[in-house]
Amino acid sequence: MAGRKSTGSWPMDGRTVLVTGTTSGIGRTTATALGQAGAVVLAHARDQTRAAAVARELKGSGGRFVPVSGDLGSLAGVRGLVEQVLQVTPKGLHVLVNNAGAAFSQRALAPDGVERTLAVNHLAVAALTSELLDTLRIGASATGRPSRVVNLSSILEKRGNPKLQDWTYPDQYSQLQAYSDSKLVNLAHTYALARELAGSGVTVNAANPGSVKTAFGHNAGGVLKVVGIVGKAFMASPEKGARTSIRLASDPALDDATGGYYSAAELDMSSDASRDPAFGEQVYARTAAILAQAPR
Ligand SMILES: NC(=O)c1ccc[n+]([C@@H]2O[C@H](COP(=O)([O-])OP(=O)(O)OC[C@H]3O[C@@H](n4cnc5c(N)ncnc54)[C@H](OP(=O)(O)O)[C@@H]3O)[C@@H](O)[C@H]2O)c1
Repeated sequence: MAGRKSTGSWPMDGRTVLVTGTTSGIGRTTATALGQAGAVVLAHARDQTRAAAVARELKGSGGRFVPVSGDLGSLAGVRGLVEQVLQVTPKGLHVLVNNAGAAFSQRALAPDGVERTLAVNHLAVAALTSELLDTLRIGASATGRPSRVVNLSSILEKRGNPKLQDWTYPDQYSQLQAYSDSKLVNLAHTYALARELAGSGVTVNAANPGSVKTAFGHNAGGVLKVVGIVGKAFMASPEKGARTSIRLASDPALDDATGGYYSAAELDMSSDASRDPAFGEQVYARTAAILAQAPR
């Protein structure tokens, strides 16, 4: 881990990084560390007032932060964010950390027709990545090193149902199942995208942060809130939880690493279902079809 800065990140001078969901928890810590390590960090929040406040607060810890916003519950929100990112990255983007995530105690559909957990934790991640691929490639050409996509995963992907047919949960909804499904689907998509982009100058990896003491359970309500309260004493700090994202975003030893799942900042093994290439291709095709149908 030579050359590592005391913030926990490796030097990031000359890099531009987008971290989604920087208002709290793992995203805020990741953005702080990468900014302190020299990156220009596009600090994302749901709306511009929040994003501006976060960027102002993070500047106090050192580093350069540019506020960007968009509600990732809809593809329209993703597109609004993409427009802002493209405006402020004329020389390309080097790292995209798809950190924002959510869970909901009640079922509701997102505007794009899928249940909202899948919309935020998977569809928005896939759409944002796809729309930013060109600028990530520009960033890679400029530095001569691959640009990186880091997707936040969870150990709960192991509970996801690979046979899930209907992404709207018409009959039965469980918060824990929908969250687990969203993380499994997104992880399978991460692997499929990494295969698709192999050798293209963009790497794609998944970060499992472990069990981390953040606002996540409180915001989610339902059983995840209870788990958050009961398990609080056993949960890691956001600083510890962010280590995996930070390493995947900045460690030069991982310059060419792609298609991996990392826990506690080291390469790990995810569920059999997530690693099944046939399942991955099915998720990839279904996601592409939904994105292609979305009005522009
Ligand atoms: N904490 C854990 O134990 C744990 C374990 C495994 C995986 N993870 C994953 O780690 C990531 C970060 O979670 P965290 O624990 O740091 O939770 P957190 O503190 O609740 O942060 C989540 C972030 O996502 C943002 N977000 C949620 N929905 C959004 C939307 N529709 N549009 C825009 N932004 C949205 C939140 O913004 P607002 O403030 O506006 O809501 C917040 O900035 C998530 O992907 C989560 O699934 C967490």
